[in-house]
Amino acid sequence: TENLKGDYPHFFLKEIHEQPDSIRRAIGGRLLPDFGTAKLGGLNLDKRDFFDIKRIHIIAMGSALYAGQIGASVIETLARIPTQVFDASELRYSNPIVDKETLFIAVSQSGETADTILAVKEIQNKGGRVLGVINSVGSTLARLTHGGMYIHAGQEVSVASTKAFTNQVMLLNMFALVLGRMRDVPLSRGKDLVKEIMAMPEKVEEALKCGEIVKEIAYKYKDANSILFLARGTNYPVALEGALKVKEVSYLHAEGFSAGGLKHGPLALICPETPSIFVITEGEYFEKMIGNIIEVKARDGKAIIVTTSSDERLKELADDYIKVPEVDELLSPLVTIIPMQFFSYYISLALGRDIDQPRNLAKSVTVE
Ligand code: G6P
Repeated sequence: TENLKGDYPHFFLKEIHEQPDSIRRAIGGRLLPDFGTAKLGGLNLDKRDFFDIKRIHIIAMGSALYAGQIGASVIETLARIPTQVFDASELRYSNPIVDKETLFIAVSQSGETADTILAVKEIQNKGGRVLGVINSVGSTLARLTHGGMYIHAGQEVSVASTKAFTNQVMLLNMFALVLGRMRDVPLSRGKDLVKEIMAMPEKVEEALKCGEIVKEIAYKYKDANSILFLARGTNYPVALEGALKVKEVSYLHAEGFSAGGLKHGPLALICPETPSIFVITEGEYFEKMIGNIIEVKARDGKAIIVTTSSDERLKELADDYIKVPEVDELLSPLVTIIPMQFFSYYISLALGRDIDQPRNLAKSVTVE
């Protein structure tokens, strides 16, 4: 029955709405609230093996790559282990450096992406250890990897990824928590994070209520030249993923940038026909983001603001304002991505695109 669209006109919209349930499956039975950590049964590693990890390299393509970037930021924050993310098609031919202190993690929905498989084989040929963050049970990557974490998103039919992306982010968060709790993260912070993780299905449910507002906004901007996505920190990859969603489903040009990078080029693109979507959360980057919004407005740019914050200034600055629930900064991509998904859906609907099967794209890219 999961194959059926049910009441939804497209799998893409159905899969967006499935996210509270798919996130529930991702975390189900995997949290240890009393110990403020997670239990990931499929890693096939002894806890002692974790002591030797000096760096982590994440390998993926497409949306999985951006999920990996969010994961890297959370791993570095919680576990203080240097973590880099590699485009698998680049890594494979770059004569990658492999040693026993580096843990490799391949992220893939299908487990069949040729570039990711070949990069993993190159690493393994050099004696490297690779874990998987995979959706498809029994897929090539699931079999090839030393161990890993199934994300349990269920079958994803739409070519553009939604619920697999959010579950990849969730599993990488839980993995970061495990590593973090073996290092600097104290029990109390661990317990708080476990609570936050347990609350995520409801927070995402709440975030899904923005669908109607985002629909109006998307229709309003359907004739845009190009759409810019701007963010900082853990949400920077959300901007990249938001832009990818718009490109692949609506065929409009969209690009994600670090908001701090605006002055280094993208600011030249700003004009009334090129709106910017800002993703802004409370914390470290808040005031800097406000500054970036003002810069864009001063150049006649339109600002669509997606935020977890209730700060009144945002409403005043925004041409369009989308509020999502407040959550811990580390987990915020799971709610800020929701309006991006809706935006790409409705702008594609307004433009009459083939939403579930965009031209020129395949669900799983099994050739190089
Ligand atoms: C294709 C899909 C994307 C996906 C990427 C990686 O480009 O259209 O949605 O993110 O492949 O796929 P994987 O199965 O490895 O996650």
